[in-house]
Amino acid sequence: MVTFTLNGTTLTADVAIDTPLIDVIRDTAGATGTKQACGAGVCGACTVLLDGKPVVSCLTPAVHVAGRSVTTVEGIGKDRLHPIQKAFMVEDALQCGFCTPGFIVAAAAFHDDWRAKHGASAPREADVAKALAGHLCRCGAYAGIYRAVIAACRGLHDGETVSAPRHEARDKVTGAATYTVDQHTAGQLTGLILRSPHAHAEVTALDVKPALVVAGVKAAVSLLGDETIVRYAGQAVAAVAAVDRKTAEAGLAAIKVNYTPRPSVTSGTAARRTDAPLVYANRFWRTAVNGAEGPALPTPWSGNRRGPVNGFSQRIFSAKSRLSAASGRNDPLLITGTWRTAGQSHTCLEPHAAVVTYNSNKIVAHVSTQASHFLAGKIATQENVKDVTVHAEHVGGGFGSKVSMGMETKAALALSRAAGKSVRIVYDRAEELSVAGFRPETEIAIKILATANGRLDTLSVRTNSNAGVAINSTVSGLARLMYPAETKELADWDVVTNLPPGSPFRGPGGPPLCFALEQAIDEAAIRLKKDPITLRQAWDPEPNRQRLYTWAKTLDVWQLRNETGRETGRFRRGIGVAAGNWLYLQQPNTRVEMGVRGGRLYVASAAQDIGQGVRTVLAEAVAHAFGIEVHSVEVDIGRSDLPVGPMAAGSRSTASLVPAVRAAAEHLKTRLREETRGKVGDNAPWPEIVAKAPDLKVESGRPPDSTSINPSLRSPLKEAGMIGTAFDWMLRTFAHIETGRGSAGAVQIAEVEVDTWLGKTRVRRFYSGLTVGVPQVRRLAISQAEGSIIQGIGYALYEAREYDPIGGHVLSAGLDDYRIPGIGDTPEMIVHFDEQGFEHVSGGGVGIGEIATLPVAAAIANAIHNATGVRPYESPIRPDRLLAGLDHKRGA
Ligand code: FES
Ligand code: FES
Repeated sequence: MVTFTLNGTTLTADVAIDTPLIDVIRDTAGATGTKQACGAGVCGACTVLLDGKPVVSCLTPAVHVAGRSVTTVEGIGKDRLHPIQKAFMVEDALQCGFCTPGFIVAAAAFHDDWRAKHGASAPREADVAKALAGHLCRCGAYAGIYRAVIAACRGLHDGETVSAPRHEARDKVTGAATYTVDQHTAGQLTGLILRSPHAHAEVTALDVKPALVVAGVKAAVSLLGDETIVRYAGQAVAAVAAVDRKTAEAGLAAIKVNYTPRPSVTSGTAARRTDAPLVYANRFWRTAVNGAEGPALPTPWSGNRRGPVNGFSQRIFSAKSRLSAASGRNDPLLITGTWRTAGQSHTCLEPHAAVVTYNSNKIVAHVSTQASHFLAGKIATQENVKDVTVHAEHVGGGFGSKVSMGMETKAALALSRAAGKSVRIVYDRAEELSVAGFRPETEIAIKILATANGRLDTLSVRTNSNAGVAINSTVSGLARLMYPAETKELADWDVVTNLPPGSPFRGPGGPPLCFALEQAIDEAAIRLKKDPITLRQAWDPEPNRQRLYTWAKTLDVWQLRNETGRETGRFRRGIGVAAGNWLYLQQPNTRVEMGVRGGRLYVASAAQDIGQGVRTVLAEAVAHAFGIEVHSVEVDIGRSDLPVGPMAAGSRSTASLVPAVRAAAEHLKTRLREETRGKVGDNAPWPEIVAKAPDLKVESGRPPDSTSINPSLRSPLKEAGMIGTAFDWMLRTFAHIETGRGSAGAVQIAEVEVDTWLGKTRVRRFYSGLTVGVPQVRRLAISQAEGSIIQGIGYALYEAREYDPIGGHVLSAGLDDYRIPGIGDTPEMIVHFDEQGFEHVSGGGVGIGEIATLPVAAAIANAIHNATGVRPYESPIRPDRLLAGLDHKRGA
């Protein structure tokens, strides 16, 4: 038993010697503002004040706080918002908001201490970074956090008024925003999953019944289905639901399972050997896990290799013969190279989680998902139950890993069905970093053949992707949409291994392609003795990007760039450029409901806010249409029983929702005029009309884009002859997306400083030029673009999934082993929006999330080359690799 003060109220709880404080705060007291993301003292999400000092509550034993005072995020702004909370709101220092409570608690403590010692003055960024070094934000909201903390310390947010650009900001800074992991009801069971310890084995016997003998275990189910083979360590085998976690663990331990291990292969290189163990024996090829958003087209296999998928090539035989002839004559304008990129874990701070309540004819599921509407449809079909509702009010990051139905949802469904009770499954960090998806590893071989007069003759991109047991990676194919050449050979192979399945990750295929291709283009510029931007401008005629190249060339940072290899001394500065292309995607079946409720406007759609700001985009579109204050608009999202909303994937949300809102607003205006005729004057402003209107609603779909505006613009897929192909059909039918006219583009410049003694790289400044049309909510668009840069820095410099090569276990399964960028890694970031090019889209803009991410790592790699003359062929660009490159250059 322990008694302490929680947010000013005395709390007594029954605890064991090892009960962490966070369990008492969240489960006993129900103060769910405090989040758990790592459980290991690394991420800071669980930070609380203990007698006024920040501590991580996941590592603090509850017995340790007896008689002391604990303050959580709910207590920080209990009576009135703390200046730090107001500053986070005003500066948009948050996105998904899952890390925010921990940052708020620590930043408030820093603020109070700073003000007491220094008065209202600005700390340096280094002071803030030191104070918040123990906190991680996967959305990369660090620039806003710096601004917020410094502004609050200067006393700029001491007043009462606060105006936040993000609609739900107040809920996120006070801990009121609830996520799937926060869903807790009386009698709810805890579900846990039993996972294979073997990388490859046959399950010869599985008996879950012994688990049911354990007192407190209410359900035990097999998750193998008809399969008896497990193909990766960590694959789900069975699950139990019990009254608490400890009992569920005892239940898992009681399950009887016999494995007959089989030979396994865990590296892409080894899996390609002819004598490699087969991950899928022939008859199982069709059961291979699909790691992409669309279906896998029938493709030949050879051993563990599937492919080539080369449908995006142009005159492939001519490409091959030109390249072979150029190689035969040692053509100096034939540029070749092979690049390798590591697997990147999504690392959502809110782990995959599902809370399912399954009655015989009704299912209510809270799921941390990017696709509530589609998930509800899948559950209804799978379970043959019509009444299914999926809730996802707030989602703590997704980045592509939460698009499809995950094992946490499948297991929670099965357990809830069996137990007849609500079941909650929340992945721990090891599960999240092992089996919840990742960007596949790649090996990308590139050949560029230029002509003496500087034309791009032939481009060859051949990629082997290792997405573990998953297939359907597309990397090379994306090169069809950029740098037109006379001939192209674009071939993708999947190499399956006994590792967990990869899944779509922000701009699937794009970042690895850019990492290789944009470095190869830089090599071509060196060979042709051309400025790298000038060469891209000549080889990449896409009109939106043409304007970005012109913008980039005029920047001082580019104009003052040193020639490659000119820098000397220990610390060397380098500037690099890279470009990227993404499709403009939208979901044509999107619908929104709009109306008046109690004298206020509301808008509703089954869309999800995973941190990209969909609530705000919707509210802003309504406010704009009616000329009213944005925070007066109510927004309902994150529920599958609302009108069909877009998945939060493929940068489609904004371009799908804004046109539908604009169309609905026109209908609603007509209805409002009719309903208030005689009650208000003919020229009454909309706020007055809305206030006097009865409750009513309209619904509208997304109208097609204008064909009369930008008539010459074509869809890049059409340009590439891909409309009407199986790929196009696949996008429409299974991913529910349509490619619009025009391309989203990026041209980015990185400025780095390389420590040539230690091999460390620091990104000093980063310029991100984006053509996505008109940003719907500028502040949030900048936040998203800045977050993309932060994630790209992680991809370039730090992030790599590591495996035990024998057993196939993921070794980088904790946030201390899997390094994502922290606040100290934040460079100065300059985001430039070129606002033209999408006037044919109602609202004038398209999505940002993917395109802003694509070329970041490539720009950093090119900057490192500019600084040192070392070409980074492998990501992450670790210090040891860079030092080896420097040694090689010196001839050591
Ligand atoms: Fe406590 Fe991460 S959950 S530090
Ligand atoms: Fe920090 Fe999403 S806002 S993890």
